[in-house]
Amino acid sequence: MYYNNNILVGKTSDKKELFILPSMANRHGLITGASGSGKTITLKVMAESFSDAGVPVFLADVKGDLAGTAYPGEMSDKVKERVEKLGLENFEPKAFPVRFWDLYGEAGHHLRTTVEAIGSDVLSIILGLSEVQEGCLAIAFKVAKEQSQPLNTFNDLRKILEYLANNRTEYGNTTTQSIGAIQRSLLILENQGADKFFGQPMLNINDFFQVENGRGVINILDSVKLFESPDLYAAFLLWILNELFSKSPEVGDLDKPRLVFFFDEAHLLFDNMPSYRLKRITQIVKLIRSRGIGLYFISQAPTDIPDEILSQLGNRVQHTLRAYTPADQKTVKAAASAFRTNPAFDTETAIRELGTGEALISFQNAKGAPEIVEYATILPPQSRMGVIDNAEREAIINASPLHGKYSAAPNSATDTQNRKEIKAADPNQTQADNLAKYKEQYGNGPFKKSDGPIAKSQKKASAAKSTAKKGKSTAAKAGERFVTNAAGAAGRGIISWFKKIFK
Ligand SMILES: Nc1ncnc2c1ncn2[C@@H]1O[C@H](COP(=O)(O)OP(=O)(O)OP(=O)(O)O)[C@@H](O)[C@H]1O
Ligand SMILES: [Mg+2]
Repeated sequence: MYYNNNILVGKTSDKKELFILPSMANRHGLITGASGSGKTITLKVMAESFSDAGVPVFLADVKGDLAGTAYPGEMSDKVKERVEKLGLENFEPKAFPVRFWDLYGEAGHHLRTTVEAIGSDVLSIILGLSEVQEGCLAIAFKVAKEQSQPLNTFNDLRKILEYLANNRTEYGNTTTQSIGAIQRSLLILENQGADKFFGQPMLNINDFFQVENGRGVINILDSVKLFESPDLYAAFLLWILNELFSKSPEVGDLDKPRLVFFFDEAHLLFDNMPSYRLKRITQIVKLIRSRGIGLYFISQAPTDIPDEILSQLGNRVQHTLRAYTPADQKTVKAAASAFRTNPAFDTETAIRELGTGEALISFQNAKGAPEIVEYATILPPQSRMGVIDNAEREAIINASPLHGKYSAAPNSATDTQNRKEIKAADPNQTQADNLAKYKEQYGNGPFKKSDGPIAKSQKKASAAKSTAKKGKSTAAKAGERFVTNAAGAAGRGIISWFKKIFK
C-alpha cells in the first residue's frame, strides 16, 4: 500500500510503519522464507505499492498466483482481521494496471527475440551441434547476411539451410549430413515450443516502462510453463535483466526508481554459477542502481544468494525458516546474522517463530544505512490473491494498448514474404574459408558444449516435474519428459550463451 509517499510493507505490533523509501528502492532487496511463509504475497504488496507510486514493475509469475493483481481483492474475514490488526484506515480492495507477457505467446503478449539477434554460435549451442555442424550453421548465417535475407524465425533459417543444401558445392564442403542434423535439431526444439521464443516483432524493452494515469504498469511474465525448464526460465530472466541494463541510460539517484524488477526463484540463477558469470551479474547489480532500476530477489534462504550479491541488497524481508536439521539451523543463524539486532527480541528465535504473513524487516534509511530489525505483520494485498480464469486474462490482454503489437505469428509466411531472391553463391568461398573467418571472429569460444550444467539441469527439471505433475497418465508423463528434456537441452544452450555474454 502506497502511504504517505512511501512503499508501506508492514507494521510492528505497536503500529510502527515499516516502509521502503522510494528514493532508496534502487538499493535493491531480498525476500526470503520457507515455502508457504508469505513471500509471494509480500512481493505482491510491494509491487502494488510501487505501481501506486508511479513505478513500473516487472515480475515473473511462476505459479500463476500473481495474475490476480489485475483484479480487486476480496474483503474476506482473514483480510478484514489483518486490516483491523494493522489499523489500515484507507485500505480498499482494488485492481492494478497489469500487462501479461508470455514467451510462448499463449498467456500474454508474445515476448520474443530473433534468431539473428541470438547469433549462430549461440544457436549452435542451443541446438547441440557438433563443431562441423556449427561451421555449417555459421555459413548459413553468413549467407543470410550477405544476401540480406531475414533471419528472424526458425522458418527463415530453414529456408537458408534448404538453399545451402541445393548449392552445397558453391559454399565448399557443406555436407548434407550437417545440414540434415541442424534441421533435425530445429525440429526437436520446435516440437517443444522453443521456436516461439524467436521471431519478429521482438521485445521493445521500453514497453516495460509504462505508466498509466500516474500508476506504474505491472508487467507479469507468465512463467508457469517456462518454469518446467528451470534453466530456460533463469536464462530468459537473465536475458531480460541484461536487456534492461544495456538499454537503460545512466540517471544517478532519483526520487523513485524507473522500474523495479522482481526475480522469483532466484536460487536457480546462482546454482553452480561459474565465477566469471557471477562477476558479471555482480557488476550489473551494482551498476543498474544508477540506471534507476531496483532488483528484488526472492528465494527460500539468504544463503541461496552469493555474498557478493547479498551485500548489495539493502531492503530485506525475512519470513519464517524451518530449523529441523543442523543444516537448517545453520541457515537460520546466517539469516539472523544479516540483521542489525533489536534489543526487544532474539532474531534467531523470531525467524523460527514467525507466522504466515509475518516477517523480520530491515529497510534502508534516508542515509542509506540499514535500520535495526523489526518484527512485522505484512499488509494484505489490495488486489486478488491467487489465480484468474482464461476469460479474465483475455479481457486484460485485449484491453492492453499493446494488444496486437506482438501478435504476428512467428512462423507464418508473412515474415518471409518479402524475402529477396537468393543470389548465386560466391564460388570462391569454401567452407574452410568460412570456418577460418568464423574462428577469427569468435575464436573457439570460452567454453565447450560439454561444460553446461547438464546434471543440474536434469535434476532440477525432474524435480520441478515431479512436484508439479503428480497424478498424470503414463503417456502424458512420457510426453512431458520428452518436452522437459528437450527444453533442458535448450536451457543448457542458453545458459552457455550467457557464459559467452558475461565472459
Ligand atoms: N500478507 C499477507 N496477507 C494475507 N494473507 C497472507 C499474507 N501472506 C501470506 N498470506 C497467506 O498465506 C498464503 C501463502 O503465502 P505465499 O503464497 O505468499 O507463500 P510463499 O512463501 O510464496 O510460498 P511458496 O514458497 O510455496 O511459493 C497465501 O496464499 C495467503 O493466503
Ligand atoms: Mg510463492
